[in-house]
Amino acid sequence: MRSSFSPKRLRRLAAPLTIVVVAVAIAAVFFTPQTKSVAARSLGSAELTSATSPNAAAALAEGKTLFDNNCSSCHGVEAQGSAIAPNLRGVGSATVDLWVSSGWMPLANPTAQPARKPSKFDNAQTVAIADYVASLAKGGLAIPKVNLKGSNVATGFSVFALNCAPCHTVTGAGDALANGIYAPALHGLSATMIAEAIRTGPGNMPRFSTFTISKAQLDDVVAYVTKNIENPTNPGGLGLGGVGPVAEGFVGLFVGVGLCVLVALWIGDRTEREDGAHGKGGDGPGGPDADESEREVVHA
Ligand code: HEC
Ligand code: HEC
Repeated sequence: MRSSFSPKRLRRLAAPLTIVVVAVAIAAVFFTPQTKSVAARSLGSAELTSATSPNAAAALAEGKTLFDNNCSSCHGVEAQGSAIAPNLRGVGSATVDLWVSSGWMPLANPTAQPARKPSKFDNAQTVAIADYVASLAKGGLAIPKVNLKGSNVATGFSVFALNCAPCHTVTGAGDALANGIYAPALHGLSATMIAEAIRTGPGNMPRFSTFTISKAQLDDVVAYVTKNIENPTNPGGLGLGGVGPVAEGFVGLFVGVGLCVLVALWIGDRTEREDGAHGKGGDGPGGPDADESEREVVHA
């Protein structure tokens, strides 16, 4: 009868065990979403309802002035587009709001690749420009309204892991994609901007309709990004004092590696004594628990 605590057997298991321990440590830190009891969700709270303002006429006039002064040189006085910039008629206020509040627009020069920079306009001015452009032609999506009350961060994490992590990485740190395209880091974004990006799909990002991400899931994934990804004091994972996912990753690595070292030292100690006693390499053929398929993975 083979003893399950035979040192030889443990030694064979050491390499796979190391991998498992490290993987579990990393997974525990990075992949545990903050679970929260699900409060009754107010359905349909977050969606594309058109923004109405009591001073709509004044806001539209302000939006037209801002557009004429900052955008028309490239996009044309009627937002019809030009040789150097696309037509904006019918893109919808959500697209315009995102491109302006992310600082992508206005471009410094027509050939520059849009990059995130502090927005040139405050929130009211941005909405005024967006509403003005949307008023020129029908089409597109209105600025989405997000309601994080009652949203479920755990569901948001699964939606994110499935739909967003392939490009933005599971920590939201961003990543280089093919052909010099870069999926940016998801930090410093408002809830509205995240919802706009999901629904409108800026640049090289696909857009997600309500068929892929429902209204409720939109709230959930926005809650996950704003709470767990953007806010380092609430990064999810284990309760390590909220030091942030990267620092927590290192803690996970040190704990995991430390455990492995202890196990390796203990096994090494046991094996040396046994090898000495038998006077040979330890893994001679025909040993009590020789097993050809297991033998393949012995590296230690
Ligand atoms: C220097 C020229 C220039 C100026 C000024 C400029 N844009 Fe643009 N805009 C562009 C170019 C070029 C693109 C296409 C960029 C791309 O797709 O990478 C673009 C794209 C956009 C898009 C995305 C359109 C779509 O269908 O995805 C929006 C929205 C937009 N601009 C709005 C604005 C607004 C609003 C302003 C003024 C605040 C502005 N732009 C100022 C050149 C300009
Ligand atoms: C196929 C890759 C891909 C997927 C999947 C993807 N994105 Fe993106 N995302 C991008 C790229 C590329 C950009 C930059 C837009 C551009 O090309 O100008 C972007 C931009 C964004 C922005 C704007 C960032 C900024 O700096 O203003 C947000 C927010 C965002 N993505 C969120 C998400 C969320 C949330 C999901 C999942 C529901 C998601 N993305 C899925 C590739 C992707």
